[in-house]
Amino acid sequence: MHENLDVFVIGAGVVGLSTAIRALEAGFNVTIFAETFPTDPKSISCASFWAGANHISVATTNALLHRLEADTLSIFLKLIKDQPLVPVMIRLHKEHAEVSGPAYQQQSDHVAHCYSDFRALDSSELPEGVVCGGTFSTIFIDVPKYLLYLMDRFLSSGGRAFRVKLPSVSALVTEKDRPSLAAFPATSTNVSPSFDPAAVINCTGLGAVSLGDVLDTNLYPTRGEILILHAPWINHGLTHHWEDGHITYVIPRQSDGRVILGGTFQPDDWYPTSRAETVKLIKERGIHAYPELLPPGRRENRDINDLEVIEECVGLRPTRKGGVRLEVSSLTVANKSYPIVHNYGHGGAGYQSSWGSAKFAVDLLKSVVKNDD
Ligand SMILES: Cc1cc2nc3c(=O)[nH]c(=O)nc-3n(C[C@H](O)[C@H](O)[C@H](O)COP(=O)(O)OP(=O)(O)OC[C@H]3O[C@@H](n4cnc5c(N)ncnc54)[C@H](O)[C@@H]3O)c2cc1C
Ligand SMILES: *[C@@H]1O[C@H](CO)[C@@H](O)[C@H](O)[C@H]1NC(C)=O
Ligand SMILES: *[C@@H]1O[C@H](CO)[C@@H](O)[C@H](O)[C@H]1NC(C)=O
Ligand SMILES: *[C@@H]1O[C@H](CO)[C@@H](O)[C@H](O)[C@H]1NC(C)=O
Repeated sequence: MHENLDVFVIGAGVVGLSTAIRALEAGFNVTIFAETFPTDPKSISCASFWAGANHISVATTNALLHRLEADTLSIFLKLIKDQPLVPVMIRLHKEHAEVSGPAYQQQSDHVAHCYSDFRALDSSELPEGVVCGGTFSTIFIDVPKYLLYLMDRFLSSGGRAFRVKLPSVSALVTEKDRPSLAAFPATSTNVSPSFDPAAVINCTGLGAVSLGDVLDTNLYPTRGEILILHAPWINHGLTHHWEDGHITYVIPRQSDGRVILGGTFQPDDWYPTSRAETVKLIKERGIHAYPELLPPGRRENRDINDLEVIEECVGLRPTRKGGVRLEVSSLTVANKSYPIVHNYGHGGAGYQSSWGSAKFAVDLLKSVVKNDD
């Protein structure tokens, strides 16, 4: 019923791609406009390149996020069942805490409620220095492959895409301000759309710095520094809660024996590349919390130089005061009003809330389009 309606999605990170796929499936004619795409070299302007990523709910006090994460988990589980080759796997995860304060207890109770096979660890199972913990199975997403999977799924379902860095959303619908567009992929023969969309979906993550009709001043980066290790022998994830509030986390990937070791959560820190002192700290804490990250036969000395580091990474999580923005506004350009559906500000939870957010955004889209009829 929406066949002839053109919808524009801005952004091709995990949120933009998932939303564009859902909008296509709802029958809209969808075009993505983005500066970066999954086939590009990783760049600091797209958070999705840098995520681990796992699904460990962080929505202890945010009811909307809790719902988005729960919906996303069911959709991922169904996807794994229907398409066993999708680059997402189910593995065991452990939580270890060095202190059992109220903050950890609240998070642990929440996690116990979110994952059906959660089990508190028995004291005999806890390593030295750890006072409590839990274990459950969850999903681990092989990020580089998964982003390519989403892009392929979008294009093969009839979606179109153009590469462009937009100074604002209005520039997209104003011919004289519109930067030149390049068809994506470059070999495709995409014809330009009509530039009179029924609605625009804003999935620009932290794009606030560059994308300003009205800048959302509630957005800020939470810098995440992580390492990619070669450690094919690792088969379960870990979150280790340190006494000083730091977190060490380990996320196994499906391919090439890669394992993520993180990491930092640094609000308002824009520094785009790794810092030597942080790398050293991540390694030291990593081998203390999870000695098996070291290669078999080289664990005795607990020497950080024995870790097989493939890459030092930094990404900027698009965090928003007040949480994800999933709502409708409108933009008036040359006396014409366009509905804008916002879907950004997912912070450290963009993968684990991606499908739930996409569904929510497409429901908003349907409601604005209906009201316009
Ligand atoms: C180290 C690290 C670990 C993480 N681990 C996890 C995890 O385990 N689980 C989890 O769920 N999440 C995790 N995250 C968070 C997750 O990566 C983000 O929440 C998610 O990637 C946000 O996706 P997005 O599509 O909203 O934004 P982005 O991925 O940043 O995409 C934004 C898109 O908008 C485009 N864009 C922006 N401005 C413009 C413009 N002006 N013109 C044209 N295009 C524009 C960009 O080019 C890009 O295509 C992690 C993040 C980091 C950094
Ligand atoms: C989608 O939009 C393009 C460009 O405006 C148009 O050529 C195409 O026919 C549209 N497809 C549908 C199914 O409406
Ligand atoms: C689109 O999202 C960005 C955040 O990435 C925000 O700053 C901007 O105001 C939004 N655009 C419009 C037209 O509301
Ligand atoms: C917008 O509408 C006003 C009043 O109807 C008119 O004077 C003006 O020329 C219009 N502007 C544009 C850009 O169409």
